[in-house]
Amino acid sequence: MAHEREVASRAGTHDAQSIEAQKRAAAEAAALLVQDGMRVGLGTGTTAAYLFPALASRALNDIRCVASSPATEQAARALGLPLATLEQVGGELEIAIDGADQIDRRGWLVKGRGGAHAREKILAAAASRFVVIASHEKAVATLGPPIPLELMRFGAAYTLRALSPSRVRGGSLSPDGNVIADYLGPVEDAAQLAARISATPGTVAHGLFPPALVSDILLAGPAGVEHRTVAHD
Ligand code: 5RP
Repeated sequence: MAHEREVASRAGTHDAQSIEAQKRAAAEAAALLVQDGMRVGLGTGTTAAYLFPALASRALNDIRCVASSPATEQAARALGLPLATLEQVGGELEIAIDGADQIDRRGWLVKGRGGAHAREKILAAAASRFVVIASHEKAVATLGPPIPLELMRFGAAYTLRALSPSRVRGGSLSPDGNVIADYLGPVEDAAQLAARISATPGTVAHGLFPPALVSDILLAGPAGVEHRTVAHD
C-alpha cells in the first residue's frame, strides 16, 4: 500500500513537472512571435511567467511591454523588459500573450483565476494579435464554472444576487479596487452568459473571452506545441 502511494505520488510529481514543461514550451514558442518594434501586452499567471524570461533572452532592442497586473509588472521589470502604460503606447498593441484557465474547440476562453481578467481583456482587445499559451489540460470539451467576475464595490450585494449563484473570492480587491468573485452556475451557452453578465449593472468585467478576441492558441502537450489559429467569420 505504501509502495502504491509512493508510485502514485511519484506519478503526480512527474505529471506536475510535465505540465510545467508544457507551459514553458508554449511560452517560449510565443516569445518567438515578438519582433522588434512591437508593443507587447504581457499576461498574468504561471504560464505567462515563463514568457518573460524567454522574451528578455531575445534581447530585442525596441519593444515596449504593457503589464496586465502588478505581479507581471514586477516580474518584467526585474528582467529588464521595457515597460510602458497602455496610454504611453497609444492604446494599441501589436501582440498580447497570456494564459487561460479553459479553452474550448471554438476558441472561447475562461480566464481570471489570477483575478487579472479585466485588465487582461483590455490588453487582448487592444492587440492586433492575441496569443493564448497553455498546457494541454486547459483544452476542454465544454466550458464550465467558475467564471471569474470583477464587480464594482458599490452595489456588489445586488450584482452578486443578480448573477446568482456566485460567490466573492477570498482575498484582496483587484488592482483597480473592485471585488473579485466567481459565477458558479452552468455555462450552457457562453455567448448568452457573457451577454447576461455584461448587461448586469455593477459588472466591470468577466472571464469569458470570445473567439473574436483570440488570434492564436499555442497548446503544449507531451508531443510538442500545437499552433491553432482561430477563424473569424
Ligand atoms: C489570470 C489569468 C491567467 O492567465 C489564467 O488564470 C491562467 O493561469 P495559469 O497560467 O497560472 O494557469 O487569467 O487572471
